[in-house]
Amino acid sequence: MKVDGRHIRTIAPGADGWSVDIIDQTKLPHVFEIKNLRTLDQACHAIRDMLVRGAPLIGATAAYGLCLAVREAPGDEAIDAACKKLSATRPTAVNLNWALASMRAALRGVEPRRRAALAYRHAAELCDEDVAVNRAIGAAGAALIADAGRGRKGDAVNVLTHCNAGWLATVDWGTALSPVYAAHDTGVDVHVWVDETRPRNQGAALTAWELSRHGVPHTVIADNTGGHLMQRDRVDLCIVGTDRTAANGDVCNKIGTYLKALAARDNRVPFYVALPSSTLDAALADGGQAPIEERDAGEVTHVTGVDPGGEVRSVRVTPEQSAAANYAFDVTPARLVTGLITERGVVEAKRESLRAAFPEKYSAEKYAGQ
Ligand code: MRU
Repeated sequence: MKVDGRHIRTIAPGADGWSVDIIDQTKLPHVFEIKNLRTLDQACHAIRDMLVRGAPLIGATAAYGLCLAVREAPGDEAIDAACKKLSATRPTAVNLNWALASMRAALRGVEPRRRAALAYRHAAELCDEDVAVNRAIGAAGAALIADAGRGRKGDAVNVLTHCNAGWLATVDWGTALSPVYAAHDTGVDVHVWVDETRPRNQGAALTAWELSRHGVPHTVIADNTGGHLMQRDRVDLCIVGTDRTAANGDVCNKIGTYLKALAARDNRVPFYVALPSSTLDAALADGGQAPIEERDAGEVTHVTGVDPGGEVRSVRVTPEQSAAANYAFDVTPARLVTGLITERGVVEAKRESLRAAFPEKYSAEKYAGQ
């Protein structure tokens, strides 16, 4: 997508051809800053501390992190150690291990001196594939938005989204927001309700920034507002992303997604999940076993924003004596999901339907979690 008229991706090789440029998302929406990663440790830090975030972008960063490691030490043991380090950075987004497995498969049996060049080539391919997949999700999801708007006179189609599953969460285009961009770009009148998404406010900070840059009408709402809007017929459909979807269609996504799905069901609002197949974990029988990241309580006790003087500050919002807990993800049962918007079209959130759409993911070995 474009920033100040320049097309950029969230991750790309640096000017020297080997280091890696990312957008430091911890600074958005106040400061747009590109950061250059040169070591495996810097890549790990970028994922762990959420300079990059969003399942597909975490996968892409892990792939390039491995390139940085292989460039330094291309032997088998060093690759094993680098994968272990990268894999431990964040637990929930399955794209992290998916990307590392794909990188390892590409490097297997290759002479160590040829591995670095091959690793960079494969990481670039994974990134291109992510963009193509997201565009296909955009086309499939835009049709749903256009359908919701058919026959309307003057009223925008209202889409509610949670967290950030836009281009910042991927290499480009986004997952849940790709349909919004595709619909908007083809002239559909679409408006987005943006959940702020406490505690890290990915909606308020990142989704709102993206949508405003692209000129998509949107309104930021407090996390508790969606149910009220649905009761008043002010939401036509919900589209969210996912960090890991189980074999049976249970969806693990940013904390608070489940509550929106419950409200949507109670109000007969369609609830869609944009699912790139890299996020489908066929080795996970259902969402009950999904690893749920628990992050530092400081993200709950404090909020960060910019003061009138333009200074970015963090302030405490809870009493010093109060304990706080920070569960980063929850699981929405498949029965609450109207459909999964994938690169192969809209698929029912059911094991048989997912298996029919993505048979390669359900091979015996993969299902056994190997
Ligand atoms: O903790 P984050 O910001 O990495 O989590 C990302 C999300 O949960 C998003 O909602 C997203 O839908 C999944 S990634 C496209």
